[in-house]
Amino acid sequence: MPLALELRGVDFSYGQGPQVLTGVDLLVEQGEFVAIAGPNGGGKTTLLRLALGLERPSHGEVLLYGESARSFRDRTSIGYLAQRTTIGLHAPATVRDVVEAGRAPVRPYGRLRRDDREAVDQALERVGLRELARRRLSSLSGGQQQRAFIAKALAAHPRLLVLDEPTTGVDVEAQDALGALLHRLHEDLGVTILYVSHEFGSVERYVERLVLVRERIVFDGPPSELPGLWHDPSHSHA
Ligand SMILES: Nc1ncnc2c1ncn2[C@@H]1O[C@H](COP(=O)(O)OP(=O)(O)OP(=O)(O)O)[C@@H](O)[C@H]1O
Ligand SMILES: [Mg+2]
Repeated sequence: MPLALELRGVDFSYGQGPQVLTGVDLLVEQGEFVAIAGPNGGGKTTLLRLALGLERPSHGEVLLYGESARSFRDRTSIGYLAQRTTIGLHAPATVRDVVEAGRAPVRPYGRLRRDDREAVDQALERVGLRELARRRLSSLSGGQQQRAFIAKALAAHPRLLVLDEPTTGVDVEAQDALGALLHRLHEDLGVTILYVSHEFGSVERYVERLVLVRERIVFDGPPSELPGLWHDPSHSHA
């Protein structure tokens, strides 16, 4: 399988700050479903930002589909749900507005065309929000809001979906529903998924691979091979 993502020998620090990631090697094949976990401050979000070309490594190289991540051009092929997307939730936007915004990378100027509207409908359908499309986002529950943001990421038909703690503040039932949704996307559409979560229990049965990040990659393998009970002392339900 061709590679979706390659990090080779990556070191990273923010400015003159301490090293946040050291010697990271991570190869992700197209079509893999990879969960990423680790303690707060372990470097998970930074790893994703490097993978997406949003940060430049101090050492090593990062490739997306064989191209340098920093200059990767086909941005519309990547859906990124950044951590803490609750910002702006009090804006009067409807669920549909949010998902339509996901088409902006594909259609930066002008009105949405029929294929855009179809992509939006499909994305809403996939996450089970079609009935709620006209509601204000702020009137939805946390789990429903997260699904709206996932629909936004899906609307551009990404081949790579990058989700940074999409289930923070979401109940176990909604976490399981999200796990099942991601599983279907992965199975039906062959989407490559990078999923960062503290509560990886909800996707554990679906993921082939778990990567634990604590400045370095301290584990990389099937969740079933995780040695002992991995316990995160800084685990938080914030
Ligand atoms: N913009 C920034 N400038 C300086 N330091 C940063 C910045 N963003 C993150 N850091 C630091 O880099 C380290 C890794 O942070 P990162 O956000 O990647 O961790 P994380 O594993 O995603 O944590 P969490 O589980 O809390 O989301 C932390 O020590 C953090 O304080
Ligand atoms: Mg983070």
